Amino acid sequence: MEENYFYKKWIKWNGLEFSPLNRISVTDTQSEWETLREEVSRCRACLYGTKRLHPVFGEGGSTASLVFVGEGPGREEDETGRPFVGRAGRLLRQVLEETGTDLSQIYIANIVKCRPFNNENPREEAVKACLPYLERQLNLLSPRLIVALGKVPGTILSGEKEIKITREHGRITRHGEFPLLLTFHPSFLIRPNGASFIPSFKEDIRKALDFIR
Ligand code: URA
Repeated sequence: MEENYFYKKWIKWNGLEFSPLNRISVTDTQSEWETLREEVSRCRACLYGTKRLHPVFGEGGSTASLVFVGEGPGREEDETGRPFVGRAGRLLRQVLEETGTDLSQIYIANIVKCRPFNNENPREEAVKACLPYLERQLNLLSPRLIVALGKVPGTILSGEKEIKITREHGRITRHGEFPLLLTFHPSFLIRPNGASFIPSFKEDIRKALDFIR
């Protein structure tokens, strides 16, 4: 377990991130973020890493209490190095705006940081190589809730099999010590057969926001 893990958690839960008591810890945390970002930028541990334009590290508030996890970057994300900036991402960001989400409270990341070939589901070896980076991000953030966007992150993070999102969306399970809410992947919602689930997606996002309040 990361050094000072429980201390950092205690600091965060008591709202003391900016107090003098936490000065050393904040510096530690910043340098851990920098180290992690640097490692990801150099990573070639799987085939996707050798072909990417940019790794998509993730973005959001460094004290975010809600973390969204998608599958992996698509074309626009690969081109820009930012998560969820394509069509699906615009839907996600629009729903976050409609629900009045405070963007400093959220962080957006993916299971894999480099674009899967032809937008395939991330291969097992890529997931194995990449997941430790996400775990380190989660440990640094220590969120109150993770939201899995779609079946792939839902299955990988919960360890459960046969998840059916249209039936189980809104259910809260666990990823280790963190509560994990299952919901739709926005790229399903922008397809003709997914559009009717957009109101359910909004409800799930509201549920997530209530959960972290
Ligand atoms: N789909 C994902 O799963 N992640 C992104 O960042 C963009 C699209």
